[in-house]
Amino acid sequence: MSENNIYAVDEAVAARAHLTAEQYVAMYRQSVDDPHGFWAQQATQLVSWSQPWDTVLTGDFAAGEARWFDGARLNVCYNCVDRHLKDRGDQVAIIWEGDEISGDGRGENRRGENGRGENGHGGDMAVTYNELHELVCRFANVLKSRGVKKGDRVAIYMPMVVEAAVAMLACARIGAVHSVVFAGFSPEALRDRILDSDCRVVITADEGMRAGKSVPLKANVEAALAGCAAVHTVIVVRRDAAVDGGQTRRSAATSEAAVDGDVGDVGDHAGRDVFWDEAMWAVSNVCPPTEMEAEDALFILYTSGSTGKPKGVLHTSGGYLLYAACTHKYVFDYHDGEVFWCTADVGWVTGHSYVVYGPLANGATTLMFEGVPTYPDGGRFWQIIDKHKVNIFYTAPTALRALMRLGDEWVKRANRKSLRVLGSVGEPINPQAWEWYFEVVGDGRCPIVDTWWQTETGGILITPLPGATALKPGSATRPFFGVVPAIMDADGNEIDGAASGNLVIKQAWPGQMRTIYGDHARFVETYFKTYAGAYFSGDGARRDEDGYWWITGRVDDVINVSGHRMGTAEVESALVLHAQVAEAAVVGFPHEIKGQGIYAFVTTMVGVDVGDGDGAGDEAAAAGEKLRQELLALVRQEIGAIAKPDVIQWAPGLPKTRSGKIMRRILRKVAANELDNLGDISTLAEPAVVADLIAHRVKYSG
Ligand code: WT7
Repeated sequence: MSENNIYAVDEAVAARAHLTAEQYVAMYRQSVDDPHGFWAQQATQLVSWSQPWDTVLTGDFAAGEARWFDGARLNVCYNCVDRHLKDRGDQVAIIWEGDEISGDGRGENRRGENGRGENGHGGDMAVTYNELHELVCRFANVLKSRGVKKGDRVAIYMPMVVEAAVAMLACARIGAVHSVVFAGFSPEALRDRILDSDCRVVITADEGMRAGKSVPLKANVEAALAGCAAVHTVIVVRRDAAVDGGQTRRSAATSEAAVDGDVGDVGDHAGRDVFWDEAMWAVSNVCPPTEMEAEDALFILYTSGSTGKPKGVLHTSGGYLLYAACTHKYVFDYHDGEVFWCTADVGWVTGHSYVVYGPLANGATTLMFEGVPTYPDGGRFWQIIDKHKVNIFYTAPTALRALMRLGDEWVKRANRKSLRVLGSVGEPINPQAWEWYFEVVGDGRCPIVDTWWQTETGGILITPLPGATALKPGSATRPFFGVVPAIMDADGNEIDGAASGNLVIKQAWPGQMRTIYGDHARFVETYFKTYAGAYFSGDGARRDEDGYWWITGRVDDVINVSGHRMGTAEVESALVLHAQVAEAAVVGFPHEIKGQGIYAFVTTMVGVDVGDGDGAGDEAAAAGEKLRQELLALVRQEIGAIAKPDVIQWAPGLPKTRSGKIMRRILRKVAANELDNLGDISTLAEPAVVADLIAHRVKYSG
């Protein structure tokens, strides 16, 4: 695939888009030449403030001290809900599509008559802005009744149900700071996050449903809370609490799970546990939004770095909301009345900015899908698109690759006529998957926006705009308004023109993170010390002759598994907890579906015989297999299933420099089976270990 393969702007798309190519150029110029003027204008158009700002942007960006809209006041929940009631109270705010397809396939509305918005396991439901308002006000009062005040941190460990969005918005309404923890994380990981930001309240559900299987969320919370003495309240959504037409919503699939004892056993700690369905109707439905300073915290979201424990990325109210709304409007060319579907879980930043805050700030209809792309079959995504007439669809390359493998037939069974814009996020999209997305899913008529950004950036930084940017498959193309990317070489010098190197951002943008919760020094050190005067992304990038940006992947010890960030240090820390493990080194390797897989080199303690890895059948090999299973379980327990290594290789020695530093460059080459050019190994303390690693390399087998 040549990068000269350019898809010119489609006239039909351009005709109805917010911006033309010329307008993008003019607005971009203004946004970087006069950021104060540009963002003041956007802030006036896109956000409702209860008090205007004194200054648009102050503080030293290069020192990690940028402040946006000082003096201004607003409430994020008011912006996402209340202000829409006048004109679109009866418009659907959230469409929820459950894990199970509704029984008769008619897609009937399963929302209770009383607008309580209960959900069971199957079917779908729609919540209007009026209904959302009532739910959010009530839940905010539930939080208040449990003593939650402005500035308090609240942990949210939820499946993809409407209550997750309601919980986030209710926190924002009263100024509490939410910390959503992805429901795939283990009890240990949840506990670390609860403790790090001192959450006293946890919101969860009895279970989550994924591909017909129950995930025991309340039981996980119970395990996590051993060791979190300060948590005084656990609010539990009961999935089968609601009754619809006299029938409980528990599906056949989950009744089976109940027999296994996974669900139902939700514990009940009198005084601590509160059931959502009971608490909601015991409080008033009136709750005025709390006025917040623009720079007051909105949420914390943990993400992995190259070293140490996950970082609590902190975002604030005014700048974040403005940036989420502005990118949602222009990047997806969102128009009133359209249905927007971002497939991300609210446990990740994509779910924060493009399932909840961006779309709702713009008064959109946002779709929340609880399930997975391949359940009950490979046609699920495309069926949902037809069923709910989705106009804008935003997903990850890993999902596209998995679906592409199943063949075009699944896609073609749906007509997809409603689709207008397609988006991609989370990792570089390979040109082959891009072409398939464009030609097969989009029938060659929907532009693809390949959006590069990070948890830290709050919103999209590099992306095409529909109808304004010519596309090149695999390139994130051009910077969004106000974003000034640059490329640095290894010595910290900026390189101009066509070049590749390390990607930095040179000017402040409103959605940028403000600090790492509880560790501002680490924030400055991590992002602003590597390259003087700029934010360092941790990614590598190339800029071509046309000024187009190509993201080449992480340049630090972070790997990207199915669009999720995994710190190699975290996986290593889990592995070395095992008594039989002396040392571990983890690297990424190319994986057909996940983008990157996890390859672990493990050195066992002296005297532990795990065989040589290729002698199946003997005693040592059996011991090795047993240890391998134990290590996988350990990683699952410490972090979650997403962190489990795809490959474990027993390594009697690791390649180290004379000063004891592990040379990961060599391990990456071995893992990727790129053995021809291992580079200079003469600086190794024991060059012989490399031959052993190569001899016992483990081939990945799905
Ligand atoms: C890392 C951030 C931002 C939402 C999802 C992930 C990689 C993200 C792209 C893209 C190439 C991408 C980068 C980045 N990434 N989008 N369009 N092209 N790479 O958020 O967990 O904070 O991960 O994801 O490596 O640094 P995150």
